[in-house]
Amino acid sequence: MSLQVSSPTEIPVTLPRNCTFKESDWRVLANFWYPLAFSEEIQDKPLNRILLDEDLIAYRTTGGEVVVAKNLCVHRGTPLSLGWQEGDELVCAYHGFRYGRNGDCTLVPAQPDLPVPKKLCLQTYLSVERYGIIWTCLSGQPAADLPDWPEAEDKDFRRLHIDPVEWNSSAGRQVENFLDVGHFSWIHVGTFGNRECPEVPLYEVEKNEQGFHAEYPYQASNPDHSVLKSDRDDGTIQRWMIYDLTFPFSCRLNVRYGEGQTHGIFDSAVPVSRKKVRIFFFIARNFDHHIPSEDLLNWERGILAEDKPIVENQRPEELPLDLSEEFHIRSDRMATAYRTGLQKLGLGKEFSA
Ligand code: FES
Ligand SMILES: [Fe+2]
Repeated sequence: MSLQVSSPTEIPVTLPRNCTFKESDWRVLANFWYPLAFSEEIQDKPLNRILLDEDLIAYRTTGGEVVVAKNLCVHRGTPLSLGWQEGDELVCAYHGFRYGRNGDCTLVPAQPDLPVPKKLCLQTYLSVERYGIIWTCLSGQPAADLPDWPEAEDKDFRRLHIDPVEWNSSAGRQVENFLDVGHFSWIHVGTFGNRECPEVPLYEVEKNEQGFHAEYPYQASNPDHSVLKSDRDDGTIQRWMIYDLTFPFSCRLNVRYGEGQTHGIFDSAVPVSRKKVRIFFFIARNFDHHIPSEDLLNWERGILAEDKPIVENQRPEELPLDLSEEFHIRSDRMATAYRTGLQKLGLGKEFSA
């Protein structure tokens, strides 16, 4: 694991151009860490990503540190993603200005004999590399720590990820779907869902400093082609599902089988904009190491593909934080805890619809 925190440039963070969030919601959300890329996505070339409507560029220095900056040259507003990286510097394609790892401009090629003004500098952001992910916080003042995911760093667990995927939904809707225990027996019958078992037993939600915790048993029904074999004559398999949510959009689901077998599923939803989410999804598993990685990942891709059309078509696209806007049943305890918790972060009705 590498853990290097890079500091942001001391420039007041301004709202992105064409921001789709209400300003107060954006300022709340900007105070949290979000995955920007899996570590392997940033090697020898800069990567361009949008986070909370902000256009960002990230690159790895020769020392291995990752720099996250606004994708905008302050000379004439050209995206730096049109330029290139040379050593530890970004070079703008338009007039060749160079920017170093702390954002300072190091060279103005048209006037090399003159000193570079101090104010000529790129906005950079706080970033940290952990769990094989580059995380960034736009405000530079994280309101909470990264999620606590020990299995993701445990050498007894095989860790595998799918490439980030984008859905046309809000981050909140995607996370709530991940926390929803009532839909397994309906939309997941092609993978693990058991149509014979739609009843959701009462479960408790325990709130904690980062978010909440809940545990829930499910008698899954895996088809013959599944990588997870049944342990019963009727083809079902008993799962103990342990959820831990870290506000605002990161979840860990440890699916426990008998004899200490844990299949951890990690889902961090990144709000690209108000109605678009990028999902960072990986698993960590301490058994069945003989199963080919692609088989395991294809299994997870199949489950996500079952969720996607539902979530992308929910209306409103954003999660209604006002509990009176949708109807809640007993099995929605995690959802109501989630919506209430988001409200407590300071997100308002504008975030909802
Ligand atoms: S716009 Fe970047 S150097 Fe001129
Ligand atoms: Fe699902």
